[in-house]
Amino acid sequence: MPFRKEKSFEIVFMVLKNKFQVAVNGRHVLLYAHRISPEQIDTVGIYGKVNIHSIGFRFSSASALPHTLGDLQSMETSALGLTQINRENIQKPGKLQLSLPFEARLNASMGPGRTVVIKGEVNTNARSFNVDLVAGKTRDIALHLNPRLNVKAFVRNSFLQDAWGEEERNITCFPFSSGMYFEMIIYCDVREFKVAINGVHSLEYKHRFKDLSSIDTLSVDGDIRLLDVRSW
Ligand SMILES: *[C@@H]1O[C@H](CO)[C@@H](O)[C@H](O)[C@H]1NC(C)=O
Ligand SMILES: *[C@@H]1O[C@H](CO)[C@@H](O)[C@H](O)[C@H]1NC(C)=O
Repeated sequence: MPFRKEKSFEIVFMVLKNKFQVAVNGRHVLLYAHRISPEQIDTVGIYGKVNIHSIGFRFSSASALPHTLGDLQSMETSALGLTQINRENIQKPGKLQLSLPFEARLNASMGPGRTVVIKGEVNTNARSFNVDLVAGKTRDIALHLNPRLNVKAFVRNSFLQDAWGEEERNITCFPFSSGMYFEMIIYCDVREFKVAINGVHSLEYKHRFKDLSSIDTLSVDGDIRLLDVRSW
C-alpha cells in the first residue's frame, strides 16, 4: 500500500500498448490490462479526500526519449549509435522486438558523458536477464548488470582477465517486476556508471575496468522482450 495519510505522493501512469503500468513515488506498483482501447480515453477524474498539487502529461516516458515504440520498425540500429553484430538475427518482420542474445557495437567507444539506453519488457515468470558492456577485443566485461527476478536481487559485477570479481548487490528498491516495461539508462561518469530505471536512479558502479575507451560492445540476454537500444 504505497499511500499514507497526510503524506504527499506522485502517481505515474505509463500507457502501454496493451496495459497501464503504474508507479507511485518512483516504485513500480501494478499493471492493469486495457479493457477499453486507450484512444477512447479523454478525461481524468480525481475524487475523494485528497489535495492535488499538479497534473501533467508526457508523450514519452520518464526519460523523454524522442520516439514511441511504434517507430521501432522503421529504425536502423546504426542511426541509434549502435551497429548490430549478430545481424542475421535482427528482425522478425512486423514484430517490435530485437532477438536475443543481442550484441551490438557502440558507434563511439565508452567514456565519461556517454549514455546507453535499453528499452524492454520483462517476461512474465522471468528469472533473470543481463545487460553487459564489453571490451570486444579482450572479452572483458566492464559492467555486468544482472537483475534476478526470482530472488529480487540486482547483481552487478565485472569479468576481468577470465575471472568474475566480487558481486555488488546492495539496492534500496528492486526496480523490476514481472511483465513490466522498462527503460534502463546507463550513464558513464568519470568514476562510475550510473544506472536508472524508468527515470529513477537505481545504483552506481565504480569503474573496475579503467580503460573505458576500449569498451565498445553492448550485449543483452535473458528473460525479456528487447524493444530498443541506443547510445550517444
Ligand atoms: C553511427 O554510425 C553510423 C554509420 O557509421 C552513422 O550513420 C550514424 O549516424 C551513427 N550514429 C550516431 C548516433 O552517431
Ligand atoms: C551500495 O553500497 C556502497 C558502499 O557502501 C554505496 O556507495 C552505494 O551507494 C550503495 N548502492 C546502493 C544502490 O545502495
